Amino acid sequence: MFLVKIRMQFAAAHRLARPDWTDEQNYALYGKCANVNGHGHNYVLEVAVAGDVDPETGMVVNFYDLQKVVEHEIFEKVDHRNLNADVDFLQGIVPTAENLAKRFWEVLEPHIRQGRLYSVTVAEGQSNIATYFGPQPQQVVF
Ligand code: NI
Repeated sequence: MFLVKIRMQFAAAHRLARPDWTDEQNYALYGKCANVNGHGHNYVLEVAVAGDVDPETGMVVNFYDLQKVVEHEIFEKVDHRNLNADVDFLQGIVPTAENLAKRFWEVLEPHIRQGRLYSVTVAEGQSNIATYFGPQPQQVVF
């Protein structure tokens, strides 16, 4: 079995805050990411697809096709946007890296037609990284 990944970067604003909590409670939990007027991150998105190589093509999935799906379904909707306000499929969640990875998975999964979606990773900058392996992960490999 192979694991193939594509990676892209996007810039977006967010605020981490539960709407049912006070600003003080949100600052206590989320720290600087609870800033009332939001702030930005340079995000890195990684999408991994698992599968066997098609002997006719030598590929699990065409990287170009996978890139196009992720660009169309995710990148074009989140890049240079406010993740709390501008993105339909992110409404009603606190846009933590974990929640973003889960929602991105749910959006992408129906569009993966070669191989199977294995993981979606969202990194806020270089050091805060969350990976979602789906609702029924088969095998977790780091
Ligand atoms: Ni933040």
